[in-house]
Amino acid sequence: MSLPDYEPSSWTTSSNEALNVSLAEPEGAFTFNPTFTYPIFGDSEQIFGYKGLRIDLAFDCRSMFPFLGVKYESKLSEDVKDVEKTLLEFLPEETVVKDEALWLNKTEQENFEIPGKPVYTYQIDGETYKIFKFKLSDPSGLKLHLRIQIFVLLFIEAGSYIDSTDNVWEIYAIYKCPEGKKESFVGFSTAYSHWKHPGSAVHDASETLELQFRKKISQFIVLPPYQSKGHGKNLYNCMVDEWLADDKVKEITVEDPSEAFDDLRDRCDLQRLNRADFLHGVKLPIEESWIEKQVAVHKMDRRQFERCVEMTLLWMLQ
Ligand code: ACO
Repeated sequence: MSLPDYEPSSWTTSSNEALNVSLAEPEGAFTFNPTFTYPIFGDSEQIFGYKGLRIDLAFDCRSMFPFLGVKYESKLSEDVKDVEKTLLEFLPEETVVKDEALWLNKTEQENFEIPGKPVYTYQIDGETYKIFKFKLSDPSGLKLHLRIQIFVLLFIEAGSYIDSTDNVWEIYAIYKCPEGKKESFVGFSTAYSHWKHPGSAVHDASETLELQFRKKISQFIVLPPYQSKGHGKNLYNCMVDEWLADDKVKEITVEDPSEAFDDLRDRCDLQRLNRADFLHGVKLPIEESWIEKQVAVHKMDRRQFERCVEMTLLWMLQ
């Protein structure tokens, strides 16, 4: 009889590699790995105590109804981390575990309707995509939100769940909408409206004070199979255009943008500002009053606006 193998490294698995996330679409499934799992499995992103560990977290492409399956060849002891239980703490209660047939059955019976109304439609490579906007007071919206929020932990560094009982949150979800076929979830963003104080002088002088808001993009994700195809640009521009057209919105901000999001935001903001020929007639040195006026017109965060001015000037000097 051979001795049991107690070499720690042979019982250690990368949680990022073990976790396979799938989107079950009619023509097959897209499977991809998460970028982060430390909020779930700890800072080292490793799971100890298993050999041949594979975690499957699958979602129906329209309803995002989740399925969780955990398989392994051997387990060191009964005391090691219970992978299934650990993940279920971050998933909605309705998640179907192990029984794939039951998950397919429940998904079909649910007859899920995409929440909200489409606010923007665009085409990429001949496919139609729609952006649906909803609030968490919509039962179907809350259901979808609770199913997709795990992507915040898996794809945004230092991402955390929002308060799903707070009805101020607005969610924008992208769906691929092929004519006469099942829709597929592509990505989403959450945004919050903060009341913007107009300053005591304006506040005290006005008799009928109209509420003003600052919109904050909090979470923004395009799922890996759909990344680098222009969906992020469409989603960001859709949200910004809606807020630019709303007189009550005075400023648009972003919470802790990642480097990739900064890149997306810079490109979109620069294109929009340059379409408006925003530097036309401006003389150096740029006056403070001009900056203040432009920041208000474009509803931009001042630092982001200054970055765009700098980038445009550098580009003009080339
Ligand atoms: N690194 C650098 N630049 C990027 C990246 C990246 N990873 N992804 C996109 N870009 C740039 C591209 O250069 C592109 O410009 P181009 O079309 O002129 O070449 C531009 O951004 C737009 O590209 P899209 O295809 O529209 O972007 P995509 O659909 O891939 O969405 C996003 C970008 C949201 C960053 C996506 O990759 C993603 O979800 N990443 C993981 C999660 C994440 O980081 N989210 C942002 C966190 S910050 C926050 O939530 C507020």
